[in-house]
Amino acid sequence: MKLLITGGAGCLGSNLIERYIPLGHEICVIDNFSTGKREVVPETDRLTVVEGSVTSQDLVDSVMENFKPEVIIHSAASYKNPDDWEEDAATNVLGSIYVTKAAEKAGVKKIVNFQTALCYGRPEYIPIPVSHPTRPFTSYGISKTAGEAYMLNSNVNVVSLRLANICGPRSSIVPIPTFYTRLKQGKSCFCSDTIRDFIDIQDFFSLMDILLLADIETGVYNVSTGQGKSILDVFNRVADYLNISDRNVPIVPPEQMM
Ligand SMILES: NC(=O)c1ccc[n+]([C@@H]2O[C@H](COP(=O)([O-])OP(=O)(O)OC[C@H]3O[C@@H](n4cnc5c(N)ncnc54)[C@H](O)[C@@H]3O)[C@@H](O)[C@H]2O)c1
Repeated sequence: MKLLITGGAGCLGSNLIERYIPLGHEICVIDNFSTGKREVVPETDRLTVVEGSVTSQDLVDSVMENFKPEVIIHSAASYKNPDDWEEDAATNVLGSIYVTKAAEKAGVKKIVNFQTALCYGRPEYIPIPVSHPTRPFTSYGISKTAGEAYMLNSNVNVVSLRLANICGPRSSIVPIPTFYTRLKQGKSCFCSDTIRDFIDIQDFFSLMDILLLADIETGVYNVSTGQGKSILDVFNRVADYLNISDRNVPIVPPEQMM
């Protein structure tokens, strides 16, 4: 299969590449390396890397015309600076629009979009069904939610996955590696007073394998275990693993973390 992976040099994209190249798929990546790393996507016979941004409509159109993907995995996202609303909107909204429009023109069979479960904001009830209202309150969440809405409003078959925290190699924005690295260095930590759902990357792979090949109904899906863990639970698990007994860790209300 010919796969275009936007943001392929990031955590999820690069893990999927490592899984799919040995299976014989041909992959093209568009990445501007803002959070992804060039070295995790070494070019091979069946892997082409285009350095550039999904915010360039010309670039997206030309990749689509030249590579002619059957399926797109839309993984590129901006979130690095919560105050840089313009960059978040450019990548997460405009970039998603350009990818969708080019896909529509090129007759792409399916787009698998990686959305964040943060689109629900502070949920009113748990577990959260996909029918729960979306109330994002960060620049990342707001822009990702707008991008998803444009994609779903197109004529392309879009499967949008509202992902919980995926844990696996190269995860960088989740608490496990943060606590691990800081505790190993003897640095202090704090925990947001928050519950999150953590899903193992192997389970995510199993889902992606099905999604790529099967005729799945288009629309929105939640991807999670359905079991919440507090950030303090996670901290304690990491501290247990490292045999650290000093557990004096401040709990910070989530509002103070925005
Ligand atoms: N990893 C998770 O647990 C998780 C949870 C919820 C949602 N998601 C979503 O999954 C996707 C991948 O997340 P990730 O953890 O791999 O993040 P990541 O930061 O590792 O990967 C994102 C990639 O997009 C690239 N990128 C950013 N702006 C770009 C642009 N304008 N043009 C081209 N490339 C650009 C980055 O350089 C990076 O390689 C994102 O859309 C994210 O919102 C991930």
